[in-house]
Order: sequence, then C-alpha cells, then structure tokens
Amino acid sequence: MKKFNVGIIGATGMVGQRFSLLLSEHPWFNVVCVAASSRSAGKKLKDAIGSKWAMTQPIPEAIGELTVLDAEKDIEKIASMVDFVFCAVNMKKDEIKALEEKYAKAECPVVSNNSAHRHTPDVPMVIPEINPEHIEIIPAQRKRLGTKRGFIAVKSNCSLQSYVPALTALMDEFKVTKALTCTYQAISGAGKTFETMPEILDNVIPFIGGEEEKSEQEPLKIWGKIEGDKIVPATTPNITAQCLRVPVSDGHTAAVFASFEKKPTKEQMLEAWANFKGVPQELELPSAPKQFLHYFEEDNRPQPKLDRNLEGGMAVSIGRLREDTQYDYKFVCLSHNTLRGAAGGAVLLAELLAAKGYFD
Ligand SMILES: NC(=O)c1ccc[n+]([C@@H]2O[C@H](COP(=O)([O-])OP(=O)(O)OC[C@H]3O[C@@H](n4cnc5c(N)ncnc54)[C@H](OP(=O)(O)O)[C@@H]3O)[C@@H](O)[C@H]2O)c1
Repeated sequence: MKKFNVGIIGATGMVGQRFSLLLSEHPWFNVVCVAASSRSAGKKLKDAIGSKWAMTQPIPEAIGELTVLDAEKDIEKIASMVDFVFCAVNMKKDEIKALEEKYAKAECPVVSNNSAHRHTPDVPMVIPEINPEHIEIIPAQRKRLGTKRGFIAVKSNCSLQSYVPALTALMDEFKVTKALTCTYQAISGAGKTFETMPEILDNVIPFIGGEEEKSEQEPLKIWGKIEGDKIVPATTPNITAQCLRVPVSDGHTAAVFASFEKKPTKEQMLEAWANFKGVPQELELPSAPKQFLHYFEEDNRPQPKLDRNLEGGMAVSIGRLREDTQYDYKFVCLSHNTLRGAAGGAVLLAELLAAKGYFD
C-alpha cells in the first residue's frame, strides 16, 4: 500500500490527541499537518496542547513539533499538503457541516468523527465490519458536491459502538425486533478528564445532550441500504436508550435487552458473536481487531478498567448473557469510546477507504 499524507483537524482535542498516537507509527498514513482553532494556530502542537494532554503515553515527538494551522482559514493550504484529513472539532453543528463541505470541495476527502453530517443522505456512516458497502454512495455525493476526489465519510456515535455490533451479529438469522439499552458513558466522551470534570467524582449525571436520539437513530442508518443517490435507513428494530455519564475515564458500557422474531438459544448467540467478522478482518486492515466480539464468561466482566484496551481498544467486549422476563435476553457490552468509538474507528474507516481506492 502506498503511503498517504494526512492532516488532523482538531488535533489539540481529546479525539485529536488519540489520532496523534494512532497515526504516529501507522503503516499507511503519515501526519504532515495539524489544525485547530485560531486560538491554537501558529503554536507548535505540543505547546498548543500544553497541560490539556490527556493520554497516558507522551505526545509523539514529530507530530508535537508541527505548527498548528487554522482549521477555518488554511483550508486551501491544508488541502494542498494532504491526501485526506481526519476531522474531530468542537464547534456548532452548522459550522462543522460547512467546514467539512469546504474541505471536500477543496478536493480533500474528510473522514469525520463529528455528528454534523451523520444524517446527510449521501454521506456514508460506517462501522467497517457492519456496512462497508455504504462507501459506494461516494460517487453520488461527489456528483452533488461537484468534486472529483473530495467527499465526506463519517463514523457513528461512540455510545452505540458496543451494542450495535453485538445486535448486528444476530440480525440476519434471528431478526432483532426490539432492543433497550442503558449506557454508562466515560467522561473522555465529553472531551473531559477527572481534572476538568470534578463534578463527576462520586456522582452520575443522567443527561448527555443529544446522545439518546443518536443511540436510537444512528443504528437505523447503519442498517440501511443504498437506494439511488441516498442511503435509506432501516425502519426496524426499534431501539430505546437512556444515556448516563459516569465517573470512568475511558470506555462506554451498555446494558442491553433484546427480543427476536426467532428466539435463539444462548449457545447460538455465543456462536454468532464468536464467528462475527467483516471486510476489515478479511482484508487484514492494520487497525482491525483479529476477534471483533469477545465474550467473557465471568459474572463481573466486562469492566472498563480491565477490558477497554482489548485488541488495541478496537474490539468489543460482551458478558452477562442471560434470559430476561420482559425481553428475550439481556447482556452487557463495552467498547473504548475514543479508540473504537472515535479516532480508532475513523482510522479503520480510512483504511477501508484507502484499500478500496477512494483516496487515489
Ligand atoms: N471524545 C469522544 O469520545 C468522542 C467520540 C466520538 C465523537 N466525538 C466528536 O469528536 C469531536 C471532537 O470531540 P473532542 O472530545 O475531541 O472535543 P475537544 O476535546 O473539546 O476538542 C475540540 C477540538 O476542536 C477544536 N476547535 C474548537 N473550535 C474550533 C474552531 N472554531 N475552529 C477549528 N477548530 C476548533 C479545538 O481546538 P482548540 O484547542 O484550538 O480550541 C480542539 O482541537 C466532537 O464533534 C465530538 O462530538 C468525540
């Protein structure tokens, strides 16, 4: 695979910091520029981040030395330096939508963590093991944007990265009819650490703006189909969600209840999870976990602290499968929110796009 030059837009943020770590030794992607707001522009990345560095490993030296560009004012310059950009910025939705379209129209593909374009009908929202075929909508998007190379592809919200794969593995054979989930979400999902979010200590906050709608609606687009020049979301299964912020640094847990048209046995569910794999595993993409879904037999697993970093934080952990009195089954899922749920998921999507020739 040829090497691609990439930029990180939002490099000073929580997800941006993850990108630096994941990309510093990536076999296909070479970080040549970083960008953030005008507050950070002009400084070396390591100085712009300063004490906001929230990772346990140090900032990669070469990336830390790059001068931060202005994500809004330097679009043409950035587009001329890179083959594509990763984007994770904290701005108003309308501003992000416009910003990402400007990059695409400057013929710079955007692989985004932001939610702004997740429901744009010709923007693929991809979990590479589940709906890789949705990237085939990109020619239709390019036609709308009037671009040759430029396009936007997005990854879905971090809250659903654990239970959507677990449900998808059961979908074809047993047909999930409805699901209920309560998520217990880490503070890094809000770009926070225990230092910057002291109110979470000894506490649970029962509201995360917009998160329940995303947790219920985004899975339907992921399970949707391309029809003409748009992706038409699925209409079932119905999902209802409650999302809570909990005092955990990294790792979103989900307690899941599910019913099926054809109720599986427990053994059939375990077998479906054990055998579930997709294009990333077949193509051996560099960030793909070898075993996507791991089932723990122990009653006290999965736990964020013990299990979030499984397979580089790219695998999903499942446990506590048992029958339920209201639904057919209940179980618990976990995924790392800034790895599989954000930067890692975006890097895997970019690897899929690179392998399929979309950055050529
Ligand atoms: N954290 C997660 O687990 C997670 C998961 C999935 C998706 N996401 C999404 O990823 C995005 C970033 O999240 P985060 O947690 O990394 O946020 P964050 O830590 O608050 O970082 C925000 C980034 O946006 C930049 N920014 C803010 N205003 C800007 C502007 N006007 N122009 C250009 N850049 C600007 C900031 O630059 P300065 O430092 O210069 O202000 C910083 O680099 C959000 O859309 C979020 O919803 C996050």
